Amino acid sequence: MKRIGILTAGGDTPALNATIHGAVVRANQLKIELYGFIKGFNSFFNPRVPHVHLNPLFQGIPELDPTKGGTLIGSSRDYVDPEKKKDLDLITSRLKKLGIEGLIAIGGDGTLNGLQPLAERLPTVLAPKTIDNDLGLNYPNEADEWVRVNDSGAPHGYSYRRAESNTVFDLNQIVNYATPGYATAVMVSAQGIERVRTTAESHRRIAIIEVMGRNSGHIALGTAYGQPDIILIPECPLNIERVVERGKYLYDLQKHVVIVCGEGIVDERGHELGAVFKSVDPAGNVALAGAAEALRTRMIELLGDRYFQGYRRGHSASEAIFTRKVGHTQRGGRPILFDRFYAALLGSKAVDLLVEGRNNAASILQYHSEKGFHVEGYDANRFRDRWGLIHARYLHPALYDPKLMKPSKLGIEYLLPIFTDAIGSDDAEHMRQTLFDPGNLAQPYHSINTDVHKRIHYLE
Ligand code: F6P
Repeated sequence: MKRIGILTAGGDTPALNATIHGAVVRANQLKIELYGFIKGFNSFFNPRVPHVHLNPLFQGIPELDPTKGGTLIGSSRDYVDPEKKKDLDLITSRLKKLGIEGLIAIGGDGTLNGLQPLAERLPTVLAPKTIDNDLGLNYPNEADEWVRVNDSGAPHGYSYRRAESNTVFDLNQIVNYATPGYATAVMVSAQGIERVRTTAESHRRIAIIEVMGRNSGHIALGTAYGQPDIILIPECPLNIERVVERGKYLYDLQKHVVIVCGEGIVDERGHELGAVFKSVDPAGNVALAGAAEALRTRMIELLGDRYFQGYRRGHSASEAIFTRKVGHTQRGGRPILFDRFYAALLGSKAVDLLVEGRNNAASILQYHSEKGFHVEGYDANRFRDRWGLIHARYLHPALYDPKLMKPSKLGIEYLLPIFTDAIGSDDAEHMRQTLFDPGNLAQPYHSINTDVHKRIHYLE
């Protein structure tokens, strides 16, 4: 191959530039040109196909800094519609004119679904990323366990659910153990919990902290490092009586409680507490915006003012219970060592896969308790159910203890290899050196977009 294209799709994560960097380093070694498409798949819908040559003369451009969060080539949630053959033809001819012989998309499950129609027209490979850690399989045959059920409310008249599984869950069998971006998101969330804790503790309040992750509880599980009292994950329907009972026990004991909830938590009937049904993004995901608030409302109803006034005096339930979202801070900023390092390897592996002639493949991060982490190539079709769809990976029930509302023993074992050495000494040093740099006060922020804009080329 002489020229490969690369793009970043979906929500940004801190490790995107690191993945691109890994791809550039490998492309330089193999003397392959790497073109970065601006704003993900959006670039393909523009007849001028805005793009940046990322390695002129087989050297990376200085703007590409693997320690910087976000993506220098921009991202969007646009996808290619497999039904729109005309669009597909146009895109293929544009890529051909540009001399692109293979495409790397850095993305999650939505991106892999979106890549499918293109994989029939040119070789494509996915390099994974997502803070949600939901791209992968709990075991290799997990995709076969999805079944389709009639559902008049769903877009095509049916929805998908997991059939009961009889596969033994083994950490060594997980396909794509962790995705770049996840570790940094957990670090930010765990720090947020530590910080909110002291306010809840000092003011005798109940804090409900919402973390991202869509329908997957991986980020919520990882916040255990911040020592919240209760963790609620989307995979385990809310048992409000248990939460209130445990909450009262803890409040009586320590005069405050810290609860973490994944944004996708569901009620007893399986309805997402925080779903905003009007807002559905192009990948078909419902926006999840109000889980913590909905939980707060239910706790206020059940605990009532009397609990706080009679027992601790002075507060109404609505004053005592407050919510905070960690929000987009968990998706941004400098990626920590674990994310940077494996993101770069996955980007490099993606180039190798294309060169080896693989199509419709993904580079993945595998873990083995004796050998540690390594990257591999994986056939993307193995992520698909029998109807060709890729589903977000759910947190396996064995990783969570629904009674304690904390990670199970196996859940702790799952987290350890990712996080024990996840932060590099340079990450800590970086903060010491840069945050209170006096220059920050006087100098305006200089955006990468300003520099990259000068490098954008067009097809016509
Ligand atoms: O998929 C990543 C993610 O950060 C989810 O955890 C979250 O629900 C969603 O993206 C938020 O998307 P947006 O930035 O478009 O609001």
